[in-house]
Amino acid sequence: MYSEKVIDHFNNPRNVGDLADANGVGQVGNAKCGDIMKISLRVEGDVIQDIKFKTFGCGAAVATSSMVTEMVKGKTVQEALAVTNKAVAEALGGLPGEKLHCSNLAADAVHAALNDYAEKKGN
Ligand code: FES
Repeated sequence: MYSEKVIDHFNNPRNVGDLADANGVGQVGNAKCGDIMKISLRVEGDVIQDIKFKTFGCGAAVATSSMVTEMVKGKTVQEALAVTNKAVAEALGGLPGEKLHCSNLAADAVHAALNDYAEKKGN
């Protein structure tokens, strides 16, 4: 049912937790199931230097959270904003149809954190 990558990221999630010195925090909820994903990140010189996630959700949501942190770490703000939920699901080798909605949180949470960063910065 799940790809090896999904199972790997679920069993060994990368970048779990809260970033103490974050300058951007975003949280989104999945209206379909009520699950929540929180992203905290630190941008320096327009590059995402560090990022962590906390997800109160299903295995697919944990895997997509983990994957998106890996995809945007070290990227510029513009590059990270261009990452879509679909791209995250594809990077995981796809998700079963009934779990596709679970990937709707990952990129959205990163974008929310980047918006928070931009607001704090005064952009
Ligand atoms: Fe809620 Fe997957 S069931 S995110």
